[in-house]
Amino acid sequence: MLQETISENTQWIDAGCVEDLSVGAGTCVLVEGRQVAVFRVDAETFRAVQNQCPHKGAAVMHQGIVADRSGEAVVLCPLHKRGYHLGDGRCMEEGGPTLRVYTTKVEGERLMVSAGL
Ligand code: FES
Repeated sequence: MLQETISENTQWIDAGCVEDLSVGAGTCVLVEGRQVAVFRVDAETFRAVQNQCPHKGAAVMHQGIVADRSGEAVVLCPLHKRGYHLGDGRCMEEGGPTLRVYTTKVEGERLMVSAGL
């Protein structure tokens, strides 16, 4: 799993207004030159993962289908429907590649995404 450690030195990138993000839908933002897929899982829960699907490398994860699997939010790639856990990036197929996960936080009306490593 590729997930950065948050510290006081973490840089946060403004990913937009939370009210512009619909529940269950994703959007793509640039974080330090990298495409990041941002999802609003529910009214107060946001997730961010790499936009490039590790299966074939297509930059399409922001168009993925958000679903609930046993209480965990997952996203299905729109191309071949591989599923990934939005919390930690694990592939739903055993041994499958993982998505990089970015930490998010809400500051006022803004969604912030960690700049990562
Ligand atoms: S490119 Fe995403 S599942 Fe194949």
